[in-house]
Amino acid sequence: EPKKSLDPDEEYKLSGDLRELYDRLLPSKESEDRRTQLCKKLERILDEEWPGNDIQVNMFGSSGNLLSSSDSDVDLCITTDAKALGDMHELAKRLNKHGMEKVVCRAAAKVPIVKCWDPELQLACDVNVNNPLALENTRMIKTYVQLDDRVRPLAKIIKYWTKRRILNDAGPGGTISSYTWICMILNFLQRRDPPILPSLQKMRNAERSTANGQPSDFVDDVDALKGWGKKNNESLAQLLFQFFRHYGYEFEYTKHVVSVREGRLLSRTEKGWETNSIDNKEGRHRLCVEEPFNTYRNLGNSADEYSWSGLHNEIRRAFELLEDGCQIEKVCEQYEFP
Ligand code: GTP
Ligand code: MG
Repeated sequence: EPKKSLDPDEEYKLSGDLRELYDRLLPSKESEDRRTQLCKKLERILDEEWPGNDIQVNMFGSSGNLLSSSDSDVDLCITTDAKALGDMHELAKRLNKHGMEKVVCRAAAKVPIVKCWDPELQLACDVNVNNPLALENTRMIKTYVQLDDRVRPLAKIIKYWTKRRILNDAGPGGTISSYTWICMILNFLQRRDPPILPSLQKMRNAERSTANGQPSDFVDDVDALKGWGKKNNESLAQLLFQFFRHYGYEFEYTKHVVSVREGRLLSRTEKGWETNSIDNKEGRHRLCVEEPFNTYRNLGNSADEYSWSGLHNEIRRAFELLEDGCQIEKVCEQYEFP
């Protein structure tokens, strides 16, 4: 039986260590400035290559949701009406011409992107074109992060752990993306008792602003909602411990679906994602995480049975180390391939 909670002295010690780690993980001002410069620089390049168009370069992903580190890649989204920019091969060529290195074009990906490295600003980036959904889900994550002071450190520490243990690569043969982990963290916080986060997409009678003239799909009034979860006074250390306990031992992978949109767990049956469903293939995956906006998508579908089991073992490993009173650095020890 896994231990129910941390003892007060362990909790106190771990809390201190987590604060210290969190401070180290915060991006430097200098690295944030370089990200902004990269945006401006790409806008200049695109204006020069496709003059006379209205072209914006926006940061999304961790560069826009308060969860980046100094070494995070930059996710960029070009918004424009210019049709010519939809040709990813052409975009790749022009970026290369302007000194971008390691330019790789993934035109056939789910979301077509150009990957490149800017040697001047020392930044790697993924560029896509006209993907408003990515900008909106970034804005929603940022809103959740701002609602309670525990969200940012918890999410940054878990992300750090996933990086060090090589658990955040959704590519072929890989595990799951950072975005999927973030959804699992947010939903875990929505399901604490009392809850630490609400469902911003389910809240009624609240002011919703508009993004690009479209009504927002979620409540985004941070000032009104800040401190929403303060009836719950669990510490950062306790939450980290409980996160690993939950996804390591409590969460029933064959029955449940993580839903940030609903702010609760869905059963596979109500979601229509039964493990053996013939007309929906999303349920075949061991891990079910509903994409909050495109709810027919399972973000867990990048992990096959083998990689899910590795992932589950890693979650349990982290829990057991914390249960044994090991330090956070041990939990986040760099994974070495055998
Ligand atoms: P790091 O890059 O690890 O620092 O984290 P991140 O927050 O940037 O996450 P990630 O690179 O995984 O994803 C960046 C953004 O891409 C997310 O905020 C989403 O907007 C989008 N994204 C990534 N994966 C998916 C996906 O499977 N579906 C959808 N709809 N969007 C995704
Ligand atoms: Mg990213």
